[in-house]
Amino acid sequence: MYFGSRDMPVRLLRQEMAKEQPLLPGSWWVVGCSFRYLAIFLLAILFSIAFYCNREGRLFQRRLESFSSVQIHGVLASNCNLFAGTWVYDNKSLPLYKDSNCSFMFDDLACEKYGRRDLDYQYWRWQPDNCDLPKFGAKALLDKLRDKRLVFVGDSLNRNQWVSLVCLIESSIPSSLMKSRSLKGSLYSFNAKEYNATIDFYWAPLLVESNSDDPSNHHLSDRAVRVESIAKHAKHWADADILIFNSYLWWKVATMKVFQESLENSTAVYKEMESRKCYEMALKTWSKWVLGNVDGNKTRLFWMSMSPPHTLASNWGRPHDELKCYNETQPITKEELRGSESDPEMMRLTERAVESLQGRGVKVDLLNITGLTEYRKDGHPTVYRKQWRPLTQEQLANPLTYADCTHWCLPGVPDVWNHLLYTYLV
Ligand SMILES: *[C@@H]1O[C@H](CO)[C@@H](O)[C@H](O)[C@H]1NC(C)=O
Ligand SMILES: *[C@@H]1O[C@H](CO)[C@@H](O)[C@H](O)[C@H]1NC(C)=O
Ligand SMILES: *[C@@H]1O[C@H](CO)[C@@H](O)[C@H](O)[C@H]1NC(C)=O
Ligand SMILES: *[C@@H]1O[C@H](CO)[C@@H](O)[C@H](O)[C@H]1NC(C)=O
Ligand SMILES: *[C@@H]1O[C@H](CO)[C@@H](O)[C@H](O)[C@H]1NC(C)=O
Ligand SMILES: *[C@@H]1O[C@H](CO)[C@@H](O)[C@H](O)[C@H]1NC(C)=O
Ligand SMILES: *[C@@H]1O[C@H](CO)[C@@H](O)[C@H](O)[C@H]1NC(C)=O
Repeated sequence: MYFGSRDMPVRLLRQEMAKEQPLLPGSWWVVGCSFRYLAIFLLAILFSIAFYCNREGRLFQRRLESFSSVQIHGVLASNCNLFAGTWVYDNKSLPLYKDSNCSFMFDDLACEKYGRRDLDYQYWRWQPDNCDLPKFGAKALLDKLRDKRLVFVGDSLNRNQWVSLVCLIESSIPSSLMKSRSLKGSLYSFNAKEYNATIDFYWAPLLVESNSDDPSNHHLSDRAVRVESIAKHAKHWADADILIFNSYLWWKVATMKVFQESLENSTAVYKEMESRKCYEMALKTWSKWVLGNVDGNKTRLFWMSMSPPHTLASNWGRPHDELKCYNETQPITKEELRGSESDPEMMRLTERAVESLQGRGVKVDLLNITGLTEYRKDGHPTVYRKQWRPLTQEQLANPLTYADCTHWCLPGVPDVWNHLLYTYLV
């Protein structure tokens, strides 16, 4: 993972994209039509050079690839790593929607509406190193989702991604008659009627049962889980055709209370356990549910890896951590970035669970958005969002204390996650 190509920092990419970008240096085209064959011949030579070149030739190779543009359905088949690449500034084709135009927007994600004036965070697209993503097409996606149900299951980052997907789709379906939205307890539902396509989100921040399962009142000081119980949630998404899971930040406490029985029973016994251990146990429960309830030939399964927050500003060279992502307007440009806010141990546990399912014949695609997301310190709402709880005087006096450096402004980073998901689905 690196930002920009080795010999081309991000600023340059940014200027290039702002101009109309010729595929080859301008002087090539002055030769005109009569030299077309010469040009084709030279192109062929260049192509072979690029083909045999190693790392040093990477930039060249990329340009030629976008020229030859074999792309789309080949992308996944080509074994290209979609998650290794570059953020490219592109204010021509982005954003794909406006926060104030999307009728499914949540006010904690609508940064422009809530006063954010620097809008560059909306203009970055993701460019994998060795292939191009297919163009996002809402119609193509809806065709795939016809008579199907897709469900995001997880925490508020997955809700963030659900809102993004629904906005991406809404902005390209013309008639408002074709959609409906409903909220029923933990289930948020979107339906594109003409396609009979359902896109849902189900709130289960720890996937298994926990004392944070209430969709609106879940900020409790102590975390309590039933790591072996998932059925109560799973019955709401057992019939889905596509399932997209995530779970990360709610596990980031030192210990948890693990209950066998109902969480409501105040006299029941519990065990205090290290949270990572609890996560491992919850993954086992989840895997067991998948094996027992999912027909891997019919249902597609995805796992979105951790979305790293940006609350430790010294990670990107600020004088002290407390500045968080406040006032950040540009992505991190360091080439090699090892963020300290994602948990490699939890990543390994997730990977192991996914591999173990794979070994038993159930495929789960792990979309590794962690690395690319690390760079986007500029994409968080900070203070430009609706606050669900009134701010105290103390907070108001110091915006750093309540700046949200966890969720993502929309349009923004989750649109890219969905673009990657789209590449798998279409
Ligand atoms: C895109 O960005 C460039 C460079 O920042 C700027 O000159 C140009 O006006 C922008 N175009 C649009 C459509 O905003
Ligand atoms: C937002 O909505 C307005 C009014 O419906 C429309 O004119 C405009 O094109 C929309 N903008 C985007 C980016 O969808
Ligand atoms: C509509 O989609 C659901 C899945 O979400 C499916 O069960 C149902 O059969 C579909 N209805 C029709 C009429 O095809
Ligand atoms: C609550 O837990 C205690 C201890 O495990 C048990 O004896 C009791 O029956 C439980 N009560 C209910 C209502 O489940
Ligand atoms: C999935 O399909 C393959 C090939 O048709 C079959 O061998 C396999 O048993 C199926 N798996 C399940 C879980 O139905
Ligand atoms: C944030 O930016 C504003 C405007 O540039 C500046 O006045 C303020 O001091 C900055 N705050 C911090 C904590 O960096
Ligand atoms: C995901 O990406 C991160 C950073 O790019 C890397 O450290 C990690 O090993 C990857 N995980 C998997 C499961 O591929």
